[in-house]
Amino acid sequence: MLARMPPFRHPFGALFSAFCRWAGVGLSVLLASAAPAQAPAPCCQSPAAREPITPLPAPPEADPLKLSLGESLYFDTRLSRDGTLACDSCHDVRTNGAGSPSQFKDRDGSKMPFKILSVFNASLNFRLNWEGNYRDLQSQTESSFENPANLATSVGEILGKLRSDPGITRRFRDAYGRLPDRANLLDALEVFERSLVTPGSRFDRWLKGETTALTPAEIDGYHLFKSLGCSSCHQGANVGGNLFEHAGIFRPLTQGPALLLRVPSLRNVATRPPYFHDGSAATLDEAVRRMAGAQLDQTLSDQEVGAIVAFLGTLTGTYRGAPVVERVP
Ligand code: HEC
Ligand code: HEC
Repeated sequence: MLARMPPFRHPFGALFSAFCRWAGVGLSVLLASAAPAQAPAPCCQSPAAREPITPLPAPPEADPLKLSLGESLYFDTRLSRDGTLACDSCHDVRTNGAGSPSQFKDRDGSKMPFKILSVFNASLNFRLNWEGNYRDLQSQTESSFENPANLATSVGEILGKLRSDPGITRRFRDAYGRLPDRANLLDALEVFERSLVTPGSRFDRWLKGETTALTPAEIDGYHLFKSLGCSSCHQGANVGGNLFEHAGIFRPLTQGPALLLRVPSLRNVATRPPYFHDGSAATLDEAVRRMAGAQLDQTLSDQEVGAIVAFLGTLTGTYRGAPVVERVP
């Protein structure tokens, strides 16, 4: 048995659920006249509803003209000053939304302080970037435009290029009823970024009740992930992305002072080595071992690391029906 704590069982389990059924019925009778469609009381929902991780939602409905314009812009190198880079150059949506380890370099060849984050599911994070210093997609996009290590341009410069192209100008008119401007440029990119979600992982299928979607070893790994306390930071639909935490609480995690970071999402994590903001863990095994020590003061056995890594592998989802895969340089 890998789990260090037995799964939680309420000592009065049977009595408790009998009460739930009674209260649920009582409540629905009471409220029936006020609100016809009652959600079940929290105590009576399916087991998945009580898990710290919830399935990823489907992409939101989007205006097709705005979506396809946003997608074209995402691949458009006019978004960089010298015309060499687009969003997709660093965030490859055909693979892991993040890029490859060899791209962990600044334009002048020096190492970037922060590894490329994946754009997949980024819209579901409560803050953006490793340090969580942006609150919304549009301000993060503007920072990508202006960052000299990134697209090194400005909204004004991009609009100048787009407005001199009759083809793209027509598409802005069709989608927004006006010429390209700051608001519709940022909006079109946001609409496309919101479509970049990766539902359909085996773990989500298991959460939704498909009991054979995970192997017993993967389920053991998930129980260990919870009983150790990993899920106190990595939880919610994105298995992270909704808290700030210091990296290196009990033991140093990486070189330098312990940074306050937005907890990263572990969705599709198996597809994007190396790990941590500085890319200092080459493999997922190493990342899990170091996390347990640094964040929870736990030294894991090889078997425990293996089980958690097996569970993390089940968090790989699909984009437009195809599995998210690692980008090989
Ligand atoms: C030169 C490579 C590069 C390019 C080009 C680039 N990015 Fe990024 N992107 C990064 C890096 C590096 C980070 C992490 C930055 C940080 O944490 O400080 C990042 C972070 C992000 C995030 C935050 C993800 C999260 O989970 O918080 C989003 C969203 C994003 N980029 C979208 C875009 C969009 C949209 C474009 C095009 C307008 C773009 N990026 C262009 C390298 C790039
Ligand atoms: C106290 C909060 C906290 C706990 C507990 C925690 N983590 Fe983390 N986790 C973080 C933070 C913060 C980072 C980012 C560290 C960095 O990049 O320097 C992170 C990063 C990671 C990464 C790398 C993600 C990437 O994209 O590079 C993995 C994998 C991971 N954690 C797994 C785990 C596992 C497994 C456990 C339990 C053994 C765990 N974490 C417990 C906060 C936590």
